[in-house]
Amino acid sequence: MAIIESYFPTGIVTGSAFCNREKEREYLKRRFEQNAHVVLMSPRRYGKSSLIAQFTLDQQVPSISVDLLPATSGKYVKNAIVDGVSQVISNLMPRLKSPKQKMMNCFARMNPVIEVSVLGQKIKFNPDEKTAEETIMKLLLNLDEAAGSLQQSIIFVIDEFQQIATLEEAHSLEASIRHAVERSKHVFYIFSGSNRTLLEEMFKDKNRPLYHLCDEMKLNRIAKNSYVPFIKKAAQKRWKNELSDESIETILEVTERHPYYLNRLCRMLWDEDSPPIADVVESTWLQYVEVQKVDWIAETISQFTANQRAMLAGLAKFPEKEPMGRAFSNKLTLAASSIQRLLGTLIKKDFIYKDQEDECYHVLNPAIKTVLAKNKYFD
Ligand SMILES: Nc1ncnc2c1ncn2[C@@H]1O[C@H](COP(=O)(O)OP(=O)(O)OP(=O)(O)O)[C@@H](O)[C@H]1O
Ligand SMILES: [Mg+2]
Repeated sequence: MAIIESYFPTGIVTGSAFCNREKEREYLKRRFEQNAHVVLMSPRRYGKSSLIAQFTLDQQVPSISVDLLPATSGKYVKNAIVDGVSQVISNLMPRLKSPKQKMMNCFARMNPVIEVSVLGQKIKFNPDEKTAEETIMKLLLNLDEAAGSLQQSIIFVIDEFQQIATLEEAHSLEASIRHAVERSKHVFYIFSGSNRTLLEEMFKDKNRPLYHLCDEMKLNRIAKNSYVPFIKKAAQKRWKNELSDESIETILEVTERHPYYLNRLCRMLWDEDSPPIADVVESTWLQYVEVQKVDWIAETISQFTANQRAMLAGLAKFPEKEPMGRAFSNKLTLAASSIQRLLGTLIKKDFIYKDQEDECYHVLNPAIKTVLAKNKYFD
């Protein structure tokens, strides 16, 4: 495999392309051992799916992954879950000797049929319950029973789970999922998503069915001291030579350790025939941002209000610990109360984040930040 694909592939990353997340993997492992279900949240493209994929690989346990991003109805959610369960059970079947019938009995109400094709055996369910909610609940309970009868743990991942909250049947779907999940002994659930406002409402509001069902886990950026050795190793593999500390520092700086953008930039750099000097790192980043600008950044920026733009441009140039303080408010010529409001809206929409290390507010997306930091207003 090309080095670039081993270290900086596109899409979900695992194995040699997966950097660190030791603490998070350990946290998930402990939750898994206690069967204490988890809701995993982070802004888009921080690495939720990759972390879950690496974690399930680490555990060597069968897993189901359902993506609800396109969900439009309870029926969609039901079908997605039915497909997921049928897939994991089909994958488990060849490993079974005698208990196949026993396992089929667990799903008796789902009218299972085994279809045999050149690809092997596949179990199909034809649930006869009336509502999507009832099918989901029973199927998840049946899955737990089947896992128990096989003495097999299963990891069940539902990605973009907040989509359920946007459906008409939200409340009853959440109630049916809660009923099954809180009874689950052998199936470990990870709910994940990037819309933290919706997810937090689902799991933290006393009046919602999923209240306090899960342990919450928030994913942040990957720390500098994990990225440095990772990048060094990838450089050694690629050029049999060192990448200078200054170049590494520039990679971390321009991308602000946003995993997706760091990966994008390194993909371009690792195409070079020799280790790039810091200036090349920077110009490659600017070149990348220019293309993105035409693609989508200009459009995104044009949709902000003038005050939102001022706020973002201000933070792009001057990340700030106390944006409501006088110094920043004077710089922006905006009242502290307006800044407070803008901050609330822009954090909620994931355009601003507070960095754990320097405790400053920053523009979340490093490509948008680069474009906005060119704003002459503050010069
Ligand atoms: N641990 C990691 N090591 C190296 N690169 C990573 C890691 N996690 C994420 N990335 C990079 O970030 C990109 C986005 O990761 P991933 O798709 O897992 O994020 P996500 O949070 O699930 O995104 P989305 O919100 O779009 O579902 C990956 O393609 C990879 O380039
Ligand atoms: Mg994802």
